[in-house]
This record gives sequence, C-alpha cells and structure tokens, in this order.
Amino acid sequence: MFPSSLTLYRPFLSGRYTVSAGLFRLGVQPVPFVGPQAAEVVETHTFALDNTYPAFVASKAAAHARALHEYAGEAGLTPALREAALSFLAHTLAAQSGGCMTWDGQHFGNAALGWTAALDLKRGTLDSLTQDSGPYSALVADIQPISAFDFLALNAPEDLALLARHPVTGADFLAAVHVMSPQHWDPRDKLGRDFAFVHAPVAGSGPLNATAPRLIDAVISRGPFVRFAWGVAMSDRLDHHPAAPPDADRARATAFDPDRAFLRVERQTLTGFPAAHGALFTIRPYIYPLADAVADPVHARALAAAHRSMTPDQVEYKGLTALLPGLLAWLDDQGLDGRAGAR
Ligand code: HEM
Repeated sequence: MFPSSLTLYRPFLSGRYTVSAGLFRLGVQPVPFVGPQAAEVVETHTFALDNTYPAFVASKAAAHARALHEYAGEAGLTPALREAALSFLAHTLAAQSGGCMTWDGQHFGNAALGWTAALDLKRGTLDSLTQDSGPYSALVADIQPISAFDFLALNAPEDLALLARHPVTGADFLAAVHVMSPQHWDPRDKLGRDFAFVHAPVAGSGPLNATAPRLIDAVISRGPFVRFAWGVAMSDRLDHHPAAPPDADRARATAFDPDRAFLRVERQTLTGFPAAHGALFTIRPYIYPLADAVADPVHARALAAAHRSMTPDQVEYKGLTALLPGLLAWLDDQGLDGRAGAR
C-alpha cells in the first residue's frame, strides 16, 4: 500500500553535533544526507508514508488508549489557526498518501485504516465516524477520536504541534500539541510555553534561543522548512513519554550493545500560516539499527567524530554518559577500513 523502503537520513555525516536551526527550505534547498549514498535531495513533502505506517498507528493507538491527555492538548489556540492547520493537514495528508487517503472538503477517508470521518474545520469537530474494514483497521477499532485535530493526527505517522505568535505583543507560544512519539519529554511541560522555555533543557541551546524571534518569524512567514535531529537510542520504541511504561532506553542498567542500539533521526517540518499568526510543526522519527546506519567505515568515523564534538553536558542531555565509552570504542572499530560490517 505504501513504499516498502524506509528513507535513510544520516544528519551526523558532517562529523559535528550542533544545537542550531539547520533549516532547509522545502522545495528549494537540497538535504545533503539522503539515502544509502548520502545524496543531495530536494524534498517537498510534509508527510512520509512507508512500510512503518502500521507501527506508528499501533503506537499512537496505544498512547491514545492509555492516556490521551498526557500527549495532546491546547493552550490559547485561535479558531483561525486551528482552521488553517486542519485545512492544510487534511489536504496535504490526502495529497501525499499515494491515494490511500481522501478529502472532499467534508469527509476524510483512510483506506488503510478503513475509517471515514465527517469533519467541520471551522469548529474543529469530528461530527461522525464510520469504521469499515481495511488492512490495518484492527489497530484503530477501539479508538474514539475526540476532535478533527485528534483524528487527522491519528492518520499521520508524524507528531504535530502548532506554534502561535500573538499579533500585538509578538510573544510566541505553543498553542497545541499532539505528540505521541516524544523522545523523553512530556508534551504537557511545553504547552503554552515560548520557544526559549521549550528548548531550555537542551544543553547548549542559549545561542539558538537568543535567535528565537527571528526563527519564529522565518517559520511563520518564509517556509516551509525541513530540519533534522538525531541521537543514539537503546530501543526502537517510538513512544518515550516520561509517563509511558519504561524500556531499555535511558534505563540505568542498560549497557551499550551494538546489536541493541539504534540511530533515531527525527525529520521535522515547519509550515507557516501568516494570516493565522502561526505554524504547523511536524515530527517524524526514523529508527534504524545502528549497525546498518554506520555499515560504511566513513559513516562510523563521522558518527564517532560527532559524538566527540559534544560537550559533557550535551552527552548527558542525550542520555549517553554511561554508554559513550562503549559506543565510541565500537564506532572506532567499525571505522577501521576493511572492517565494514564487522561486529
Ligand atoms: C525553528 C524551529 C525549531 C528549531 C530550530 C529547533 C531546534 C531544536 C534543537 C537544536 C533541539 C536539540 C535537539 C537534540 O540534539 O537533541 C531541539 C529539541 C527540542 N525541540 Fe525544537 N526546534 C524548533 C521548533 C520546535 C517546536 C515548534 C517545538 C514544539 C514542540 C520543539 C520542541 C522541542 C523539544 C521538546 C525538544 C527537546 C527538549 C527537551 O528535551 O525537553 N521544537 N529543538
């Protein structure tokens, strides 16, 4: 139903870890680390549907059933921004789904999940839901979406956030979150907060936060953009909400093991709605076995160099303090020429 291959992104190939904007203009500026050959590719899409789609839907359905309020909420969201974002979501998901999803201005259908909803974008409501059979309909059989935003978010692999800027004061704030695959942060802590508050826990985010007003302006009026974040994780679970049941990632007892290590890349897009004084932020995790991501010694050396460029605070922030010696020793071994693929 969807492309069977997962796009490989290796944003660490510069060999440096930076806490910086790293924005590429969608449709204009090539992303320089796409695919097995790390090619330069001009991307245009917001939503990426591939063979991992059922895993996203299953994870989102579990989070929804466990405690939706821990993952999703609104703070000062204006009807104008809500409508602009909903309209973009419905149109763009349908347009980028390869025919699986449809939107006629009133009804959003998803053949993979077998459901169709009548949505009122002005009021933000889900007025009716019909559930039929589809290849993955069992995953959402027990889910009752609560609004148009909730419903559309459940159809996308991407997590969603709406950032807003007050038209008079210029203050920015996070007006809505629907984040079901957070990497060790709690969406409730960020809701209603400004850019600098949201990013305060990130080690070395001072210079980035100082540029927040210019960044927010660019995001609302000069996008759309794509950017990437990356890190090594010790599990392939999507949902690392602090209140979700714990797993091996960032557990005190977890030692570095190359066979259980993953590269987690987050592809993030930003689409502005200037007339509605806000923007949509999407977050899509890609999780690759670490050994696959650095099978080429050149790539292993780049990942080692990028970790060596982190400050101790950054290593700590990334949850790697106990793992770093083992990770670097293994990467150095992988980086020896002629040892590609050796474990
Ligand atoms: C121009 C827009 C943005 C830029 C340049 C940016 C940049 C960054 C950077 C560099 C990091 C550190 C990543 C790492 O190495 O781990 C980060 C983390 C993060 N960003 Fe953003 N970001 C942007 C927008 C947003 C928005 C709109 C949200 C709203 C949900 C957000 C939420 C976060 C969160 C929650 C973290 C992790 C913070 C934590 O651990 O508590 N970012 N961001």
